Amino acid sequence: MEITVKDLKFTYSAKTKSLAFRALKGVSVNIGEGEIFGIIGKTGSGKSTFIQHLNGLIKVQKDAGSIVIGEYDLTDKKCDYRSLRAKIGMMFQYPEHQLFAETVEGDVAFALKNFAPELSDGEIESRVKDALALTGLNYDLIKNSSPFDLSGGQKRRVAIAGVIVAKPEILILDEPAAGLDPKGKREFLELLLRLHKDFVKTIIIVSHDMNLVAEYCTNAAVFADGKILSCGTPKEIFSDKSLIEESGLNVPLTAFLVEKLKEKGVLIDCDLTVDGFIDGVCRALNLKGE
Ligand SMILES: Nc1ncnc2c1ncn2[C@@H]1O[C@H](COP(=O)(O)OP(=O)(O)O)[C@@H](O)[C@H]1O
Ligand SMILES: [Mg+2]
Repeated sequence: MEITVKDLKFTYSAKTKSLAFRALKGVSVNIGEGEIFGIIGKTGSGKSTFIQHLNGLIKVQKDAGSIVIGEYDLTDKKCDYRSLRAKIGMMFQYPEHQLFAETVEGDVAFALKNFAPELSDGEIESRVKDALALTGLNYDLIKNSSPFDLSGGQKRRVAIAGVIVAKPEILILDEPAAGLDPKGKREFLELLLRLHKDFVKTIIIVSHDMNLVAEYCTNAAVFADGKILSCGTPKEIFSDKSLIEESGLNVPLTAFLVEKLKEKGVLIDCDLTVDGFIDGVCRALNLKGE
């Protein structure tokens, strides 16, 4: 499913003039099927408000633009949000705060029962088992544990199992790696890549981590003050100096190193992944040696 957003605006507390706050001021963007799409920008720029529109948690306001996702027109009053939400999984920041059932199995099953009440108990059990296995957790060992007794990384895996159990086509993650230690972070990102390869078609990631964006995202949109300043590949975004300045973003380490080497007269042409950077450096060295 492709996502097409046109001129989306959104005002919090729209009905009370003195409290009204315009959080989105005309956002247009296209997210193709198969992408790992980054949403970046400073705190308060409208990222969370934007993504909550995509599964209808926030409804498109009157005369405030349009969102079309596959066959779903979110400005249509008859839009089937329940079916939409089964196809678009959303994981909020610190999802472990939303774990609540007594057992891991109960927690993951809850989401599924919500989306697919027609499933039998046996079907639910097998879907829960598959979802936990996909996240690298052992169903038999963990199904009766309390979610609260798990480690940080395990809790986040259970949370994502609760999202993918509905078999979404699109996975939206708000700061998925926030608060994890470096090892937990790496493992969680590897899990996302595995899911993207075999399972979900499109991933949308809100992140403050520019290294993550450079390494994994096909494209990204830079939010600032309720608008998209720029949209493009990580290479396009992070080589645009005035954009970086205006948006107040950090750059990934690879972009920083490319810039430092340029100051020394070494030009590296590469995408900004670590492997791409290393290949670029090797090419530059070989050329110099000839
Ligand atoms: N429930 C709300 N009521 C009023 N203003 C809000 C609400 N949620 C967010 N905002 C404001 O809307 C703007 C965008 O917020 P948000 O979408 O959360 O940004 P981000 O995710 O980029 O940090 C911010 O200025 C924020 O203070
Ligand atoms: Mg946010």
